[in-house]
Amino acid sequence: MSSSEQLDAPNIDPLRRRLLRVGASFAALPLLVSCGSESPDSAIDEPEPGGPTEPAPQPPTPEPVATLPPRGLHASWIDDPTSTRTLTWFTDGTRAPDSYLEYGPVENGMNDTDIASAPFPQRTLASRQATYGVEAITHTATATNLAPDKAVRYRVGSAEGWSAVHVLPAAPNGRFRFAHFGDHALSEFSKAVVAGVAARAPDFAIIAGDLSYANGDQPVWDRYFDMLEPLAARLPVMTCPGNHEAKDGGGEGYRSRLSMPGEDDHYGFDYGRVHFYLSTGGSLLDGLAGAGALAAELLAIELDLARAALRRARGEIDFIVFVQHYTIWTSEDGRDPANFTLVALEEQILLRYGVDLLLVGHDHIYERSKPMAYGRPFANGYVQLTQGGGGQTLYELVDDIADWSAFATLRYGFSELEVDGDTIRITSYAVDDEQNRPLPNGELRVIDQFEIRARGTFASAAFALPARTRKQLLPEIDAVVRHTARRNALHDAGEHLPWL
Ligand SMILES: [Fe+2]
Ligand SMILES: [Fe+2]
Repeated sequence: MSSSEQLDAPNIDPLRRRLLRVGASFAALPLLVSCGSESPDSAIDEPEPGGPTEPAPQPPTPEPVATLPPRGLHASWIDDPTSTRTLTWFTDGTRAPDSYLEYGPVENGMNDTDIASAPFPQRTLASRQATYGVEAITHTATATNLAPDKAVRYRVGSAEGWSAVHVLPAAPNGRFRFAHFGDHALSEFSKAVVAGVAARAPDFAIIAGDLSYANGDQPVWDRYFDMLEPLAARLPVMTCPGNHEAKDGGGEGYRSRLSMPGEDDHYGFDYGRVHFYLSTGGSLLDGLAGAGALAAELLAIELDLARAALRRARGEIDFIVFVQHYTIWTSEDGRDPANFTLVALEEQILLRYGVDLLLVGHDHIYERSKPMAYGRPFANGYVQLTQGGGGQTLYELVDDIADWSAFATLRYGFSELEVDGDTIRITSYAVDDEQNRPLPNGELRVIDQFEIRARGTFASAAFALPARTRKQLLPEIDAVVRHTARRNALHDAGEHLPWL
């Protein structure tokens, strides 16, 4: 059966319907199925019609043996964020039975017991693929036709092991919150960021690249998703790749473990009245072989942002938020003042279409810019928020902070962005103190607060410009790609090259 056929499989199988009819608990389903060669019906205590004798009492059903427990659950969406949720998880080994996502709405009046044990009205067969670099299988299944105003309860697994029941938040129609951080890794600060975001319970989270720092050691990804699961099983986590993802088979380690929209590692979506675009920023550029992909991505960004700017001018959305791993301008010592490849190739696109907010990582600092353009404060420009303190390490700041920078510091943490009508309120939290010592007991400290207002009607109209052709947009693309490939190679060799 192909993966698309699997996803289209009937939601409830006949056995499940029968169990519902006889009032059996759905929790029994995996026990029955796990009996293997036994007929599932033998576990249902019904008299044989017309039989000469009463059936012997059934022995208690044995506890299931979770020989293939799902691990590393993480939610995302690959389709409409309001009516679908995609779950991705892993099982060890190269063998796996049919695995499922079972789900349903959290109805009014459900208590914790109901949420944990009530029957699931929907069931979807998962697709599967080999997990890059380890003996494991990645399972993926999408919940569809969800009611946007209801939280979703679910579990994943198979006859050989089920996850706990988790709840994903509703997709609110109006005000919403999301978290942003990058450069995550597996340190005590990384774990504190996971706990801190989970405690804040936003509607979703964005990780702006450099997730696990596996750097070619694939089992690190397993430990990473173990760490992330308490957060990612409870809210969608959307990601873009960073340069460290390139170290795992040119991004294959990342691709085989995460389910994101589109097929080229970059994608756009609307959430509420905000348009998001998550770009690779050239993070996965693989020498000259990546030239075509880079040009294609820049053209995709041009088209996407042109369309978004037009929609904003028409009043259909309020904000355009662009996310990638790399900073364009930075106060990090050694990488300042800018990534001029991105200045030349990308910044002019963001400015042309009036991107409101640029969310980035890569530089392991916290920095927030004033509205800016080309390294100068500019009222109609974009605000860049660098949240590279997700947990890996912290770097250094330059001594003389440039005048486009509104605030820069060296702290571990994450930002929370609340979208409320024509305002985005941003609160940045640290999980450490001023000496970068971990805060006790999951404590969070606010280190920065600011807000962005939606552009007015006339300003929005000024950004509604026609998309350019490849020749107009990228006349020097081949030379720039050679330059970028060299820059990345030198960076990976550990060299800091501010002018490359
Ligand atoms: Fe990083
Ligand atoms: Fe990076």
